[in-house]
Amino acid sequence: MKICLNDTVFDNLGRVADTENIETYVIGGWVRDCILGREHADKDIDIVVVGSGISLAKKAAKSFGKGIKVSQFKNFGTAMFRYGDYEIEFVGARKESYSRNSRKPVVEDGTLEDDQKRRDFTINALAIGLNKKNFGKLLDPFGGLQDIEDKIIRTPLDPDQTFSDDPLRMMRAIRFANQLNFSIAPDTFDSIRANAERISIVSPERIITELNKIMLCKQPSKGLNLLDKSGLLKIILPEIDKLKGVETIEGKAHKDNFHHSLKVLDNICRKTDNLWLRWAALLHDIAKPVTKKFLPETGWSFHGHEFIGSKMIPVIFRKLRLPLNDKMKYVQKMVELHLRPIVLSQEIVTDSAVRRLLFEAGDDIDDLMILCEADITSKNEARKKKHLDNFQLVRQKLREIEEKDALRNFQPPVDGEEIIKTFGLKPGREVGIIKNAIREAIIEGIIPNEHEAARKLMIEKGKELGLSPVS
Ligand code: CTP
Repeated sequence: MKICLNDTVFDNLGRVADTENIETYVIGGWVRDCILGREHADKDIDIVVVGSGISLAKKAAKSFGKGIKVSQFKNFGTAMFRYGDYEIEFVGARKESYSRNSRKPVVEDGTLEDDQKRRDFTINALAIGLNKKNFGKLLDPFGGLQDIEDKIIRTPLDPDQTFSDDPLRMMRAIRFANQLNFSIAPDTFDSIRANAERISIVSPERIITELNKIMLCKQPSKGLNLLDKSGLLKIILPEIDKLKGVETIEGKAHKDNFHHSLKVLDNICRKTDNLWLRWAALLHDIAKPVTKKFLPETGWSFHGHEFIGSKMIPVIFRKLRLPLNDKMKYVQKMVELHLRPIVLSQEIVTDSAVRRLLFEAGDDIDDLMILCEADITSKNEARKKKHLDNFQLVRQKLREIEEKDALRNFQPPVDGEEIIKTFGLKPGREVGIIKNAIREAIIEGIIPNEHEAARKLMIEKGKELGLSPVS
């Protein structure tokens, strides 16, 4: 396994380890991804030593160069430092057991095998020696190499024990299965199902890290389906769980919105790595269960689900510890506008409707179009083609209007300040009325998006309100 140590950083670590006479190994993701021939997501190197991790970290940092700052986490017995692009983390081999109701471990020093045993999965428990006597030697007491070959996620110990030590590992199993396209060993999966409730002792911050990693997979539906089958979904994402199911009344059935949402999400993942557009895809129909009605004449209706859905986003984001900033606003906007291009494509596409959409979506119009195209999950190929062709028309119209009117980042050609100055006003109701009238006139194509025309309209509107220019 010398091939995994093909960087001077490992020679240097080995040299320091020999000088200090400490057994030292590289373990975890670095080894796993090297064997898989997979680019490691980050340049994290996990080092385990039989002895004090903190002490070796200090010695290594000193020998690597001046001014390398070692961060120590005494409570966990770990230390780390950065070296070039690398983040090297050191830990002493431990025998660990956790008390049942918290993650607070009772730690004792242990052998390498003790440490491997208490790791999450066999594929993450592979270690490679760094000391001269075993440089490049793979230590694999739990068959991790075979599991990599067989594409299996399996715990080194009885899974109930491994998941009880840290219930987040249930989500990690699903995340790795999704990322690596592995399957989860049946007894490991049974244990996740049996222990799913225990996820509730894990902090939302740790959960969302794993969930976002699932969302960034090539095909997140696989992870979300596993979350569903394991019973974790209804605990961590109850709103998504509620999308499940089909109801039939008078022979009319609506679609299963869970499967539809996953399909939209997978569709969008083929087009973009943008995590927030992916979240918008997963959440675009989130208000369908609460808006669902059966109308005898027309069948199933989810009237207003895009508005209610956009209102649900902040609640969901807060609960999941997703950011409550412009990313959230972006997702809200996508959810709120997700039907607009479809409506447009079904009508005669008027300039003013296109302008209104451009005005509201602003710079996010291209993302909105990607979302809408991903939203077409019809199995009827002819219908699908018709929709997609219509979207092409909408896109063309968008381009034409945009070139003509430069509305994407609409800045009113006459702003509030000019209105205030012209009429000698204080900020207030009249300013809003005039600004709105100008915007509407531009959208409706009554005046061009230009200063002179807008100013003229401002004077007219002012007159209607009993205002006259002060100079
Ligand atoms: N680990 C564990 N249980 C956890 C988290 C981590 O046993 N709940 C162990 C695993 O051996 C893992 C190593 O710590 O390989 C490093 O963890 P982490 O950096 O989270 O994961 P990686 O395996 O490096 O993978 P990735 O970078 O994709 O998260």
